[in-house]
Amino acid sequence: MNVLLLNGSPSANGCTYTALWEVAGALEREGIQTEIFHAGKGPVAGCTGCGACKETGRCMIDDGVNRAIEKAKEADGLILGAPVHYGGAAGVMTTFLDRLFYAAGGFFAYKPGGALVSCRRGGATAALDRLNKYFTISCMPVVSSQYWNMVHGNTPEEVRQDLEGMQTLRLLGQNMAWLLKSIQAGRQAGLPIPQAEPRIRTNFIR
Ligand SMILES: Cc1cc2nc3c(=O)[nH]c(=O)nc-3n(C[C@H](O)[C@H](O)[C@H](O)COP(=O)(O)O)c2cc1C
Repeated sequence: MNVLLLNGSPSANGCTYTALWEVAGALEREGIQTEIFHAGKGPVAGCTGCGACKETGRCMIDDGVNRAIEKAKEADGLILGAPVHYGGAAGVMTTFLDRLFYAAGGFFAYKPGGALVSCRRGGATAALDRLNKYFTISCMPVVSSQYWNMVHGNTPEEVRQDLEGMQTLRLLGQNMAWLLKSIQAGRQAGLPIPQAEPRIRTNFIR
């Protein structure tokens, strides 16, 4: 089994990476393969709502989102990591995820998802809520830990000093490994995934 970890920071090896690395280590110790993908690299275009992805499962704009979609489809679980920017998840990450989930969110149903954020001081819970929303609209079981998945620091070294935060992230990794193994055991025992009703969509209009 394998888990894809998306780093939504502009920094490839900054605080968010340090946090993801801690989760990845815990997963690896449980026998789960991991890959950290740098989603925040370079400018990321916003979703134009063109709808082309509904036909292809791919985004018309090719700036790394499609590569992540292919990897996420192959993965058994997904971890999203973002720095906090102005009290929310960094725009580069939400832009990336808007397009990734709009194009391919349907492929992630019943894959466990976990989110984490890194901040210097404030805004972590709002940012975390934003990331978790991608899972909760995609039938993805959300993995939790002993505290909200956040670390505090302005440098990787400061993040490593956040002992409670790092412990929370190691448990997040262990919990995801446990859930992945539980899902696999259920599948092997013949437990089917829920059959969804035909989708009803309503717009609120008067
Ligand atoms: C544009 C910008 C806005 C930021 N806004 C916040 C904020 O609202 N709250 C906070 O605690 N830290 C804020 N920070 C600091 C980062 O969230 C923090 O240093 C984080 O750990 C950096 O992670 P990274 O190294 O993975 O990018 C901001 C940083 C930048 C560059």
